[in-house]
Amino acid sequence: MSERPVRAAAAVLVGLDFGADGYAEGLEELRLLAESAGLQPRALIQGKRQRPDSSLYAGSGKTEEIAAAVREHKAVLVVFNHELSPAQQRNLEKALDCPVLDRTGLILGIFARRARSNEGKLQVELAQLEYASTRLVRGWTHLERQRGGRGFMGGMGETQIEIDRRLLAKRVKLLKDKLVEFKRRRDVQRRARVRGEVLSVSLVGYTNAGKSTLFNTLTHAGSYTADQLFATLDTTTRRLYLAGTGNMVLSDTVGFIRDLPHGLVASFRATLEETIQADLLLHVVDASSGVRETQIVAVNKVLAEIGADAIPQVLVWNKIDLTGVPPGLDRDEYGKIHRVCLSAKTGAGLDFLRDALAEVAASKKSAVISPENMQHHGDTYVT
Ligand code: GTP
Repeated sequence: MSERPVRAAAAVLVGLDFGADGYAEGLEELRLLAESAGLQPRALIQGKRQRPDSSLYAGSGKTEEIAAAVREHKAVLVVFNHELSPAQQRNLEKALDCPVLDRTGLILGIFARRARSNEGKLQVELAQLEYASTRLVRGWTHLERQRGGRGFMGGMGETQIEIDRRLLAKRVKLLKDKLVEFKRRRDVQRRARVRGEVLSVSLVGYTNAGKSTLFNTLTHAGSYTADQLFATLDTTTRRLYLAGTGNMVLSDTVGFIRDLPHGLVASFRATLEETIQADLLLHVVDASSGVRETQIVAVNKVLAEIGADAIPQVLVWNKIDLTGVPPGLDRDEYGKIHRVCLSAKTGAGLDFLRDALAEVAASKKSAVISPENMQHHGDTYVT
């Protein structure tokens, strides 16, 4: 599905170093996030601080420097790679005379552009309203007016921001009710699958790791892939038939990210429940990334937050065509499959993944028929 072309808005990016690990990679990710949001990063302002300034986050000298960059590059937006308090955001907007977005606002902007299904759109709107309820989000709406139209934030219009809190709470309740209904329907579908003893596999991984590409290669489906962060926002589920193994259900999920805003984890919990219910997680890793280890840790952290850390996991070392790693399958000291090295793009190593899935499917079948794992559910047996 192609996106409506929009003129990229010039932005100044700000990343401050508080001495934490991964500062440089964080800046590269900020640039990618900004581009994925349809912005054109024109300047990056960096600085070192011990702790954020309580009023301006960056301090007055640094704020002057940011203001000068805004003027020089004719930027229409400033993006901080940090979480700003509502007061800091307001003060910065006043000092810079320009809309300011923080990291959560930026990610929300991307999510709003990407949501395709009704459920995804509701989840994004819910996250936006919950974010807006703590602050007056001027960033995107200001920009919309300057650029004369609807844009990044999708449904987040001026009117929504002016809605009084009572109406806002009412809308939040309505959205939550609708999402509960979506979840109920999904649960029914899932129960039908459990009854059929079909192996359920979810692809998880850092954004841009190649989950959708792998999903498409395995299922020959036309799921959306792009070299952008969060190209996939909605869980897509397809049945997959493996010769000699039978049917299984494969789900492609939203990409994970370091410091995923908590509001978004909460909003996407329902979608990610597909992940929680899986028999197996294929944790797709961009093996060509210099920060792959940090990304693995970030993904596992979110999995723990949604209660999916106990589900068996196989690492899929993807994009090996960009590295010197040969296709293959590694086992741990107990003989369990630990990692498969492949390229979703070229297809190298895919047979190792098919073998791994067949092995897990076979072990699920034997677990189902083993008497100690059986419970009687009407006329079906489930583990
Ligand atoms: P999100 O939707 O952001 O979570 O991304 P994703 O994990 O679904 O990644 P996607 O499949 O959209 O791939 C991201 C980029 O990596 C695309 O440009 C793909 O073409 C590229 N890509 C995926 N797999 C491979 C691979 O094996 N080799 C190479 N060279 N590129 C790949």
